[in-house]
Amino acid sequence: MPHATDTEYQHIKVTQLAQTFGAEVTGVDFSKPVEQYVFDEILRAIIHYGVLVFRHAELDDARHVAFAAQFGELDDIKPYIAMGRKNRLPFDELFDVSNLEDDGSLVKIGSRREHMGLGNSIFHVDSSFNPRRAGYSLLRAHQLPPPGHGGNTDFADTRAAYDELPEDIRAELQENDYIGAHSLMHSRKKAAPRDSPYLKDVEPNDLPFGRHSILQTHEPSGRPTMYIAHHLHHLEYKTPRSSRFVPTSQQPYERVPEQQGTELIEKLLDHATQDKYVLSVEWQNPGDLVVWDNTAVMHRAGQGTFQEKYARDMRRATVHDGSKDAWGLNERTTVRQGLP
Ligand code: OGA
Ligand code: MN
Repeated sequence: MPHATDTEYQHIKVTQLAQTFGAEVTGVDFSKPVEQYVFDEILRAIIHYGVLVFRHAELDDARHVAFAAQFGELDDIKPYIAMGRKNRLPFDELFDVSNLEDDGSLVKIGSRREHMGLGNSIFHVDSSFNPRRAGYSLLRAHQLPPPGHGGNTDFADTRAAYDELPEDIRAELQENDYIGAHSLMHSRKKAAPRDSPYLKDVEPNDLPFGRHSILQTHEPSGRPTMYIAHHLHHLEYKTPRSSRFVPTSQQPYERVPEQQGTELIEKLLDHATQDKYVLSVEWQNPGDLVVWDNTAVMHRAGQGTFQEKYARDMRRATVHDGSKDAWGLNERTTVRQGLP
């Protein structure tokens, strides 16, 4: 369904892509640093639309990092390198989300890297498991499989999903103001084969969680939203329900009983990922760039038949969230999750 161009913008052309969110932006000259007055309109557009698609942006690695830095302070992969991981890419501010091994060969199905990467194929937000969450992510196609082999990136609009939440669930969320406990290993286990040799013995409870309120106000737009993702391992109460609860550093908040919490998590995720809230972005050409706001939308890597056959070389710059909710209920440390 074609959408009209948004007339609120003078310097860029913004055309809505899905029913409630997402837009394609044209008219930006990426061959040089983006001018502040153009950037201001891009920022206004991402606050409103949650996802922006720039076709043929054709940034190189350096300009990709520089454009991302206009949005705020960048996350980097230095902690992972310290854990022994190599970086195939020339900037530590670029996250390698390709299907390539560090030596450039195609990732094999059943390999460690394939199993670890499967977590990206279920709806999530970036870095909700770290002490400071991600705000914007900027994903760029460097090399793509031929058309018809899949590998879209899908987005889900959590602000619209909250607006249309069934009244009983909304009341339950408002009454309880739950904490969501996020774990990278939880989503990886959820997405990988149950008997994955790389994940079957990993226990999310033995690792730190990232804690954020489920119900939030998206600060830049002022709209209510749910901060949810398949990283959600369990829910917690902000104030203990039981007089016997003793807080520890690993478990500072009392957990919602497991079955009750899991049912609610799945209900929220099912509701928010219905087709009417989902936009599937097809990567058309190397040089396409998609920017999203992890505090307003979820995303997932679409599966396809390209695996083991064609390179899908995707590179991501990640901007630390700068809102008041950036650290959630976490201690302000530089610890990151993830295995080499
Ligand atoms: C990411 C991610 C999705 C994709 O880069 O954070 O989830 O389609 N990528 O590669
Ligand atoms: Mn991601």
